[in-house]
Amino acid sequence: MTERIAQIKQEAQAAIAASLPAEERAATGKAANEARKALETAIAIREEELAQGELDRRLQQDRVDVTLPADPLPQLGRLHLITKTRREIEDVFIGLGFNVAEGPEVERVYYNFDALNHAQTHPSRLMTDTFYIKPTDDIFDPQTLLLRVHTSPMQVRAMEGQPPPLYIIVPGRVYRPDSDATHTPQFHQIEGLAVDDDVTLADLKGTLLAFARAVFGEQREVRLRPHFFPFTEPSVEVDVSCFNCVDGIDKNGNRCSLCKGSTWIEILGAGMVDPNVFEYVRDRGYDPEKVQGFAFGMGIERIAMLKHGVPDLRMLYDNDVRFLEQF
Ligand code: DAH
Repeated sequence: MTERIAQIKQEAQAAIAASLPAEERAATGKAANEARKALETAIAIREEELAQGELDRRLQQDRVDVTLPADPLPQLGRLHLITKTRREIEDVFIGLGFNVAEGPEVERVYYNFDALNHAQTHPSRLMTDTFYIKPTDDIFDPQTLLLRVHTSPMQVRAMEGQPPPLYIIVPGRVYRPDSDATHTPQFHQIEGLAVDDDVTLADLKGTLLAFARAVFGEQREVRLRPHFFPFTEPSVEVDVSCFNCVDGIDKNGNRCSLCKGSTWIEILGAGMVDPNVFEYVRDRGYDPEKVQGFAFGMGIERIAMLKHGVPDLRMLYDNDVRFLEQF
């Protein structure tokens, strides 16, 4: 635009200079200058008006109404019930002063059986009860590899790694050749081990009572029943008082389906660490004359199913969102 104006100005000046008598040139030149200035001003004003109009239009168009409700959030994921339950149990024991340790899922016969005082004749060593990595391996060779059948092998590994006092829990996957409504070939356990110089069965019971009340409700009681495990002596099974009924009768007046009317529900296995187990780690500071310990092991799925009334273990692995969303 300004180039065009300059051009017109030049042409006008040339025309004036060529055509006017000398005495009129000054007055005409002045008038022409004024006209040019007026035109230039008018053009600038209009340009400004047009630019402003464009800005107003844009502002109008791009307006954001901050009072409108936000877009709904997309569907968020959530922790799986097994993960939630594991963390809930971990939190209880962390609160009691236990540390969380983890160990290998591919384990040696030594840690899974031998150092846990399993006799060579113990039936769980057989291929019908344990997944061996190579079917051709000698299942009695301590070095033979298997998928651990429980989290208990970490008891010995942890004691090898650290002198007493030792307070640990061990969450993790375990494997057994089982499959039905209450068994899957892979499931989860949490192991507990406390070793110190003054540990008794009463400490075990108190610890498990605190656990049962934190997870199943403040009104719970626990009871210990004699049992057998190779690596604890004495060994017990631990029951929690039923949280689904009163005296075996549920709120609809029927025999309680959870405790089968017995008012007690089995939740885990436990016991005092067998001195034979300490013998395997005596040189790491675990002299069975000087230290005692308690141990326990529970199935995470079992705790989750009891707490949330899940009727079939396989529902935890089917990945049906309608089921998983409830937790
Ligand atoms: N390892 C046992 C199992 O898988 C559970 C168990 C029982 C663990 C007693 C323990 C214990 O630490 O003391 O059936």
